[in-house]
Amino acid sequence: MSDKALNQVSLDEFKRLSAGEKAPYFVENGRSFHALVAQQFSRPMLEDLCSLATCVRRIAKTREGSSFLQSRLFDKRAMLYFAQPSTRTFLSFDAACQTVGLDCVNVRDSSTSSEVKGESPEDTIRTFSSYTDLIVMRHPAGGFAEEIAWMLSNTSRPVPVINAGSGKDQHPTQALLDVYTLERSFENTGGIDGKTVAFVGDLKRGRTVRSLAWLLTKYNDVKIYFVAPPELQIGEDIIAYLDGAKVSYEITGDFERVIPEVDAIYMTRIQDEWDIDNESSLIDTSKFYFTKDHLSLLKEDAVIMHPLPRRKEIDVAVDRDPRAVYWRQVRNGMWIRSALILSIFGCDAKVRDYYKEHTS
Ligand code: CP
Repeated sequence: MSDKALNQVSLDEFKRLSAGEKAPYFVENGRSFHALVAQQFSRPMLEDLCSLATCVRRIAKTREGSSFLQSRLFDKRAMLYFAQPSTRTFLSFDAACQTVGLDCVNVRDSSTSSEVKGESPEDTIRTFSSYTDLIVMRHPAGGFAEEIAWMLSNTSRPVPVINAGSGKDQHPTQALLDVYTLERSFENTGGIDGKTVAFVGDLKRGRTVRSLAWLLTKYNDVKIYFVAPPELQIGEDIIAYLDGAKVSYEITGDFERVIPEVDAIYMTRIQDEWDIDNESSLIDTSKFYFTKDHLSLLKEDAVIMHPLPRRKEIDVAVDRDPRAVYWRQVRNGMWIRSALILSIFGCDAKVRDYYKEHTS
């Protein structure tokens, strides 16, 4: 993937590109400047971010290490602009900013900004960027964060943008923490290469599933099961990409047949916030719940994941099984987001040097 400059393309030309075609515009010299779509992350970039997250996690264990990390970006500020509800993504970005020393301000409800006086979201975010050095944004409109990145790259003071969840299309930093969790779970069994992953639930509207499916194509010999009722099956764009990337997959509604086959099960909830007329309530999803009885079908070294929040799709009795790693995923989000922020600001080499000197 060769880098391209956002200030050398018009907004109209840029908007006509697919997410994959936009990806090179978000990367500079092999590192993300903006982090907007899963397609922008190459395998080496994923490996670098995972190893940097591990450095941060281990350095942060000591007071001296925490102080070192907090002095990396003490002169920078971040705006967390969340125009949709969030618990984990918001709090883990807030914690990640604190970990690397960034001051944070936030707007979590556009009714408290001058948008209620008729200011456009574009002008609102441009205003945020006047006071801060990083915009982390969640927005209901797919592709909007990408347009904001174009706008902020076409100013005299470009400010990086991180997509913290956009519409039904992308949640790239969730996919990064999912990859980090898979890497950690399989560190003694050859990593993600050669593993079989089942996505279960609302795959049609689950942006975490879509972003992670893109990232899994970067690994060798991965097999994917898409397990869902027909109305909620994975989109054709993902299938076309998997076909192009020669990734093996199967689309099925038979959850119990798949459970013994897989190394990772990625459960998701019904995304009924996107319903137009409460149509999800008519779909029987109970066959796509992971129950305590299913534990006996699962391989001994498999993992159960969930981006959370959950409803009924994983029985709480499953939480105590060591293969349930969804609470570890939550914490991994803080480490990988710290790593991403450090990488965007070019602080990764100093953190790796500190790690080598103090912790090996
Ligand atoms: N996984 C996730 O995006 O959770 P939140 O909606 O709570 O941020």
